[in-house]
Amino acid sequence: MNSSGTSEGSLFTIFGATGDLSRRKLIPALYHNHVAGHLGPNVRIVGVTRQPLGDGGFRAEAEKALAKAGIEGDQVASFLQRLHAVTTPSGDPDNFTRLRDRLVVLGHVHKIPPNYCFYLSLPPRAFGSVIAGLGSVGLDVSNEEGWSRVVVEKPFGTDLKSAAALNRTIHEHFDEGQIYRIDHYLGKETVQNLLVFRLANAFIESSWNRERVAEVQITVGESLGVGSRAGYYDGSGALRDMLQNHIAQLIALVGMEVPESLTADAIRYEKLKVLRSIQPIDPSEVIRARYTAGEVDGDAVPGYLDEEGVPSDSETETFVALQLGIDTWRWQGVPFYIRTGKRMPAKTSQIAIRYRGSPVRYFGRQGIPQDTADVLTITIQPNEGFAFHCDIKVPGNPLRLERVPLQFSYGDHFDGDMPQAYQTLLLDVLEGDQTLFVHGDEVEESWRVFAPILESPSPTREYKAGTWGPPEAEHIAIPETDLWQVDDG
Ligand code: BG6
Repeated sequence: MNSSGTSEGSLFTIFGATGDLSRRKLIPALYHNHVAGHLGPNVRIVGVTRQPLGDGGFRAEAEKALAKAGIEGDQVASFLQRLHAVTTPSGDPDNFTRLRDRLVVLGHVHKIPPNYCFYLSLPPRAFGSVIAGLGSVGLDVSNEEGWSRVVVEKPFGTDLKSAAALNRTIHEHFDEGQIYRIDHYLGKETVQNLLVFRLANAFIESSWNRERVAEVQITVGESLGVGSRAGYYDGSGALRDMLQNHIAQLIALVGMEVPESLTADAIRYEKLKVLRSIQPIDPSEVIRARYTAGEVDGDAVPGYLDEEGVPSDSETETFVALQLGIDTWRWQGVPFYIRTGKRMPAKTSQIAIRYRGSPVRYFGRQGIPQDTADVLTITIQPNEGFAFHCDIKVPGNPLRLERVPLQFSYGDHFDGDMPQAYQTLLLDVLEGDQTLFVHGDEVEESWRVFAPILESPSPTREYKAGTWGPPEAEHIAIPETDLWQVDDG
């Protein structure tokens, strides 16, 4: 199942090829893989569109999307040559036959085996019918001649029931080994590095447990508001939009045991075990809130209820904070503090591991102020990197301690831009590597964990745009104030 679509050749089909995600992320990501030399000569990209664009029209649209992403230059033309289009007018019963026939012809002309990737860049309500359509015309290939892989975007269901139903629908035609559920956080370099950092450095892994760690904080703050996405967001909220997927994956990666190997199955199994071990959450302890008018980055911004398209009686949260526990030998008794929100003072995604303090307080005894614990911060974005904050002696007399960061920053250490998450993930789909994709069991387990909050939501509180959340959340997740400062340097 993990034969390489880059060296053998494959047809990478995008449903919703002229949509927002395709323009902003997928086409640029494929382009970057083209430039990096990762796409063999026989990788062709097929855009499925409602409008009759033809290859030329689709290439022109893709060129515009690349230009908008700031991409131009002499490699654009050779990339565009990889692009083809298939028109599937709304409601036409022959759409899938037409798609299959076009893929077969392209396969013959370009000498590509029947290796198909189908990217469903579509609203979730369309997933089921597309899966069934692919199956109905035999595009769910899995045999010695070729394979099909299907890539599904979030949201994967809106609750446990709908996620389980979607899994069943997909499994009617595709095995789990053919399904790539995207969570773009898993494609971020720092998130991948979390595992490497733990497993390649014995001293980190050996202190990654309840003996050494006092608490774990995970914060995903965004300075943006809902913008033009109220139509989607109001039915979703921070819990469905961020917590159930991206943050659940971060919790699982931080909390997982050392896997038996680095295979996709081994890693995903360990993540699943963490999700299964999360203690039941009391919904009344969860702080949900929405932003009111305020100031972000020096600009006055409206409150959530005044954003275009948000119903005036909306109870949707744009912020959620909670404490949870993981019932394993490694983490029993260690609180995990989680907070995420829109319209925070800055965009920052960070994991902070707060270690237990020194057993003997020599300095405190002598009246010398000392921070009680060391903290490891893993900054996922921006200014990606790691910092270990610990106390050192300030030169000279009298004896004084100061907290300093021992720091690693990607920007300082490596040249060039970091690969974007979608660039990594699309290449993995072509290569047949499921490590950075979410298993169906993980999705369902994560819905199970957070479902009670949806079923009995706590009241929607308020926080001023440009703050870290409502005062009620401070007891749940007190920010590491000195560490939360976002360094613009
Ligand atoms: C998306 C959410 O999945 O992730 C958005 O739908 C959110 O609401 C985005 O803004 C955050 O992603 P990133 O990569 O900007 O942190």
